[in-house]
Amino acid sequence: MRLRSFGLALAPALLCVNLAQADPQANYLLHCGGCHLENGEGTLPEVPDLRHDLDWLAQTAEGRSYLTRVPGASQVPLSDQKLADIYNWMFDVFYPPHSNIPPFSGEEIARTRGIPLWDPLSARKALLRDRKEVTQAKEESQNQ
Ligand code: HEC
Repeated sequence: MRLRSFGLALAPALLCVNLAQADPQANYLLHCGGCHLENGEGTLPEVPDLRHDLDWLAQTAEGRSYLTRVPGASQVPLSDQKLADIYNWMFDVFYPPHSNIPPFSGEEIARTRGIPLWDPLSARKALLRDRKEVTQAKEESQNQ
């Protein structure tokens, strides 16, 4: 009897958690999933796979600025906070648990979102070239 009333008291709290998660997921599906697909894999080579590289890109100021400015993200008709929620949801779902990706806040998105990114593909190439160089340098120092 006691247990049962405890369960009932908990139900609204659980429902709220579910709704809070459903919101970014629904927004992802509605506003991003059409191109990047439900599981984030995209359609290479045109639409990048969101299950790779975001962990790297989200570690530097340039990479984080890029994430807020790619056209699909910056132009989505959602508030800065809602876009931050989509990214944080993607970090949770598309990357391994404890991957240590610093979450976005609405304020951070607002700071760079409006700066036009004229050439996303070159920006992406430059950022990912840095990744290759850093990874190679790390491997070399480990082999010494
Ligand atoms: C109309 C198709 C389309 C939609 C909708 C779209 N994207 Fe994209 N996205 C692209 C394309 C194409 C690129 C490659 C860069 C470019 O040409 O803009 C890209 C690039 C990206 C990248 C860069 C990934 C990388 O590895 O460099 C991120 C992050 C991203 N999109 C997130 C989003 C998010 C978040 C949404 C929804 C809020 C979204 N996109 C909606 C087509 C889309």
